[in-house]
Amino acid sequence: MRHLLSAGDLSLAETTGILDLAEQMSLVQARPVKKLPALRGRTVVNLFFEDSTRTRSSFEIAGKWLSADVINISAKGSSVSKGESLRDTVLTVAAMGVDALVIRHHASGAPWQVTQWIDAQVLNAGDGTHEHPTQALLDAFTLRRHFRRTAPGQIDFAGRTVAVVGDVTHSRVARSNVLLLQTLGARVVLVAPPTLMPSGVDSWPVETSHDLDAVLPEVDAVMMLRVQRERMSGGYFPTPREYTVGYGLTRTRLGLLRPDAAICHPGPMNRGLEISADAADSGRSRILDQVAAGVSVRMAVLYQLLGGEDDTPAGGSADARPRTEGRREAPAPDPRGQR
Ligand code: NCD
Repeated sequence: MRHLLSAGDLSLAETTGILDLAEQMSLVQARPVKKLPALRGRTVVNLFFEDSTRTRSSFEIAGKWLSADVINISAKGSSVSKGESLRDTVLTVAAMGVDALVIRHHASGAPWQVTQWIDAQVLNAGDGTHEHPTQALLDAFTLRRHFRRTAPGQIDFAGRTVAVVGDVTHSRVARSNVLLLQTLGARVVLVAPPTLMPSGVDSWPVETSHDLDAVLPEVDAVMMLRVQRERMSGGYFPTPREYTVGYGLTRTRLGLLRPDAAICHPGPMNRGLEISADAADSGRSRILDQVAAGVSVRMAVLYQLLGGEDDTPAGGSADARPRTEGRREAPAPDPRGQR
């Protein structure tokens, strides 16, 4: 793997290799001394042009626990706020000799563009409404653990139904999850109001519905999406109250979910809008497991991109062969969702 730009670039073997390696990395999280020497002498720059709590800090923790030198640059407080272009910013950072650039940018396709300008390895930490591949990997990690715990002995994703609910139009999390869950063999149902269902969704490998109450009883997991008001220019729904009535995971709707179904949300949550406190804090909520998984998965990804092949924490090596065929394009973001 040279870069990680799209969840669709990962083969099944690469995906399970990362998830297995992340399981090993998660052992570090439970240790009193959280440090592996694997990336000593390597430099990782987190370059964030959009706000972030979970993604940026978990990339930072992941790099540090692997002994890499990690530097954070955010648009606010850097020369970007003085008008420096993306190209000049990344050329400047690259000229200092960094090994990997973790980038979040409001323009879909920005991380790919950056790979054309510099030699460092590039990891997409969220580009506009396009993709967020490490989020999909951490969601898959969380769900795989959940499925293994609730139904041991069954195949992890085959025959599983995952509903992705809410503001699909503006969601890079949804796009990356659709691609990765397809690779893993799960059935995906997108549930959204017609105004928040992307226009080209017919060509995606998913089923769609506008009826959350009908879908919830069938699912093994439900992923609630944040309503991304910062990406909305017009009226996508009449009132927040109407959105919640139609598409929120309310206390009443919790009763429609199977007892072993997992509730996920990438965060940050709009409590009371797309998810109720009852759902977010229920025993079925895997939301904090997702946060913890973010560190393990990002350690695995940084290790696979920057590390050697043979010195994983347990001494094994994961399949990191690049995929040579069947590369897929991410479902295209709806132009209405572009900023
Ligand atoms: C997501 C993002 O930024 O794309 N959050 C995250 O990375 N944990 C989802 C969101 O902002 O709604």
